[in-house]
Amino acid sequence: ARQIVQVCAGGERVLCGDSMKSLAVLEGEGGEGGGSGGYSVLVDRDGIIADIGKSDEIAAKYNREDIDNIIDATGKCVIPGLVDAHTHAVWAGDRVHEFAMKLAGASYMDVHRMGGGIHFTVKYTRAANEDTLLSLLLNRMRQMSQSGTTLVECKSGYGLDLENEVKMLRVIEEARKVVPMEISSTYCGAHAVPKEKTSAQATQDILDRQIPHIVSLVKAGQLQVDNIDVFCEKGVFDVVQSRAILQAGRDAGMQINFHGEELNRLHSAEMGAELGALAISHLEEVSPEGISAMARAGTVAVALPTTAYMLRLRPPPVRDMIEGGVAVALGSDFNPNAHCLAMPVVMNLACVVLHMSMPEALAASTINAAHALGQSAMHGSLERGKWGNLVLLGAPT
Ligand code: NIG
Ligand code: FE
Repeated sequence: ARQIVQVCAGGERVLCGDSMKSLAVLEGEGGEGGGSGGYSVLVDRDGIIADIGKSDEIAAKYNREDIDNIIDATGKCVIPGLVDAHTHAVWAGDRVHEFAMKLAGASYMDVHRMGGGIHFTVKYTRAANEDTLLSLLLNRMRQMSQSGTTLVECKSGYGLDLENEVKMLRVIEEARKVVPMEISSTYCGAHAVPKEKTSAQATQDILDRQIPHIVSLVKAGQLQVDNIDVFCEKGVFDVVQSRAILQAGRDAGMQINFHGEELNRLHSAEMGAELGALAISHLEEVSPEGISAMARAGTVAVALPTTAYMLRLRPPPVRDMIEGGVAVALGSDFNPNAHCLAMPVVMNLACVVLHMSMPEALAASTINAAHALGQSAMHGSLERGKWGNLVLLGAPT
């Protein structure tokens, strides 16, 4: 167990779980409707929620002497640990000059075609060693954790060749051992077409060399890879290539979770739904048919408001997706082009830019995001049997 109870807003951190061998109870008055004595959450020594309920009932059921640690949450609000369903957190190099280009009118794809964007980051990430990448990643993850994130998706995708994609996945594996968060790892070797290849050659290399090699490392117990991702986009990987890569990943045991319908409507949402994708990210250009297909397939939509904001894109039609029966999750999409590590900021943007309600944004950043990563059995809500990942807000509601 590597669980942590955090106070949002940069406050004090209280560890529970293995590191302190503690049994923690959170006590509080409860907000409106909390009744007398409020609610308590009991976390066992393995970091699992053992019980949750009215404080007087919990007090009657357990002996105080058996409880190692009591955290007084009076006047605070306790929510589940936040889940960030989409990040690109392993990279080196700085692209601030591209922000200037975009402010002067260049589009994301203009910069990409000029050899910048992902290509720029690939150059610097290939040149960086594992130690450098790990320390950059850990610094970012520490900041995510301070903003309440307890489960985070983290991709490769700035290596674009076998050696460097594996290097990125190894860095994620190292981070898993030390960060006080759970990581869902994603192989994204199809994040862009490397400069030395055509998209057909890159697809072939991924299918024939990269996926089989990664699978052999997983089988040898050297890596854990949870998801397969591609950037399905005009000028990157088309729908046919993306489908082949996603299928190969799924056949190798990875969950399908990919970038689709961001800048152009390619009907990749329909393709993903047909493959039974667990989640599709972006979806700014998704069609009504794509929304229906995702709803039927139970594919989660991962909305990324930081990107729509940074790139001045049309925001994804989140209201249509929610009304159409698609579960919507949120991610920071932290990447060299969108520097946001804090899910509370993402939630705020989701309300303002995507027209989500506050309860929708909270669900999208907890239980729905956990579901987008196939982890809702243990993450995303405060329920008996799940990890005791609690965020204490310094606010009464
Ligand atoms: O999700 N759209 C593709 N990938 C990233 C951006 C990565 C980058 O520009 O480095 C995204 O926004
Ligand atoms: Fe992304």
